[in-house]
Amino acid sequence: MDQLPSHEPDAAPAPAAQGPFPSPGTDREWWRHAVVYQIYPRSFADSDGDGIGDLPGILSRVPYLADLGVDAVWLSPFYPSALADGGYDVDDHRNVDPRLGTLDDVDALVAALGEHGIRLVIDIVPNHSSNRHVWFQEALASPPGSAARDRYIFRDGKGVDGAEPPADWASGFGGLMWERVPDGQWYLHCHAAEQPDLNWDNPEVHDDFVSTLRFWADRGVAGFRIDVAHLLAKDLSDPLPSDAEMARMPPGVHPLIDRDEVHEIYARWRTVFDEYDPPLTAVGEAWVEPERRSRYASRTGLGQAFNFDLLTANWSAPEFREVIDRNLRQAAETGSSSTWVLSNHDVVRHATRYGLPQGTPGCSQEGKEWLRTHGASPVLDRELGVRRARAATLLLLALPGSTYLYQGEELGLHEVPDLPEDARQDPTYLRTGGADPGRDGCRVPLPWTASGPAFGFSDGGAHLPQPSWFGASSVESQEGDDDSTLALYRRALSTRRNVRAGEDLRWRAARDEVLHIERAGGWHCLTTFEATAELPPGRVLLSSAPLAHEERMVPPNTTVWTLERP
Ligand code: GLC
Repeated sequence: MDQLPSHEPDAAPAPAAQGPFPSPGTDREWWRHAVVYQIYPRSFADSDGDGIGDLPGILSRVPYLADLGVDAVWLSPFYPSALADGGYDVDDHRNVDPRLGTLDDVDALVAALGEHGIRLVIDIVPNHSSNRHVWFQEALASPPGSAARDRYIFRDGKGVDGAEPPADWASGFGGLMWERVPDGQWYLHCHAAEQPDLNWDNPEVHDDFVSTLRFWADRGVAGFRIDVAHLLAKDLSDPLPSDAEMARMPPGVHPLIDRDEVHEIYARWRTVFDEYDPPLTAVGEAWVEPERRSRYASRTGLGQAFNFDLLTANWSAPEFREVIDRNLRQAAETGSSSTWVLSNHDVVRHATRYGLPQGTPGCSQEGKEWLRTHGASPVLDRELGVRRARAATLLLLALPGSTYLYQGEELGLHEVPDLPEDARQDPTYLRTGGADPGRDGCRVPLPWTASGPAFGFSDGGAHLPQPSWFGASSVESQEGDDDSTLALYRRALSTRRNVRAGEDLRWRAARDEVLHIERAGGWHCLTTFEATAELPPGRVLLSSAPLAHEERMVPPNTTVWTLERP
């Protein structure tokens, strides 16, 4: 078959100066339309051969990030930590884990990224500290009722000698949410026991986090990703409900999740953010009902909140359309902008989700369990998964709003579902005795080279073992290949930056299982799910899969961008 390449080299985008967006240095609202690349530092690049990725490793890859064309980098935690939860157990929020580097390395990274107009966003983990944090150590050494204990959530137990926990609440990470300390009291931890929850009714906790935000902003950090932003405010007044009662409580009433008071915290943070020029940005990780998400994203709050709706949606045109419409409407109502995301360090990589048999919910426990048992079998259609992932990415990048990419997705990288049991690190795996397969499969260190030690990730090993098939997905294997996923991402990001588009989006009529949108300036984006469709008008800018010349038809599981203007 006569095939067009998946791009037309002569359909070059307009020069940067004519793009719709001001240059990175001058745009105060850059976050509205930014492409943000998430780095999970321990698994990105290792400079010293200890098998753990580090900040100098990231620094050495700044040219790669610049070539990719991202607007910002979001770093998952790099703070001192025992790694009980991959760094989300923070010992000291205003320092760097010595295995990952130094504060000088952060400064160097801000500067190096800045030379390419790339901003740095960091993760703030305000719901809990680690149990090694100086505050928690002080709390353990202090008596019940002391000021040191009041920075956390300590309670007496129930039953004879208080030997039973204050409530039977089950942690999503396995086990109970309460842990007993030697003097008999119990403390609350929504996640692992090494992550005691902080008491946000204590003004000292507020003040300390404001100092942390300023500390990083003063070093040149542009914004923050707020970990479990919906959990900070809690109502632990007696009597505590049972786990079963709590499960029936609606948002706003539930003692732990998505309480209205949480927005008072973010209103105060907003005043701090707005003291900076340009204002600091923030995006909340808030797993809440879609209609309650807007409050986190409001102008008087964090400004943006992750929309995980596409991440949990099936590969289906009606589902995608419903999610897109709802999120654009909500963003317009709050004055925020949408945050499109398909993968992150907590979920099964989307190239793999899209290769599961139809109807297997890849993000669910069921999906992960399926992968664990079938991951290596041919039933997982890896090729189809990548094909759909490429199509989905082009669709996301054509939408108004910002897009969050997770390291490795630009390589079409798959989940590693079959890690050896003794290599797994995730507390969700360890605390459930393996019942939950955990999140390690999307955190395996990146392959930079086709062969060699740790596929170029490190001169030593990799802290999670890489499978032999990683080499074929490596950066080296894809460099120079115009049809590679890496080439597609690079081209898509530069085209998006330069095509003239407004904030609006118009749906064009399309048959079932096809989505066709048009942006101002004649930019068309057409995605076929399980169907074929005619090419949209205009010249082809980019296609996620090869197109047949003679037919002007778009095959299934493909996204095409065209430009309909002279
Ligand atoms: C967030 C993080 C996740 C972490 C949890 C507890 O959901 O994304 O990785 O385990 O918070 O901090």
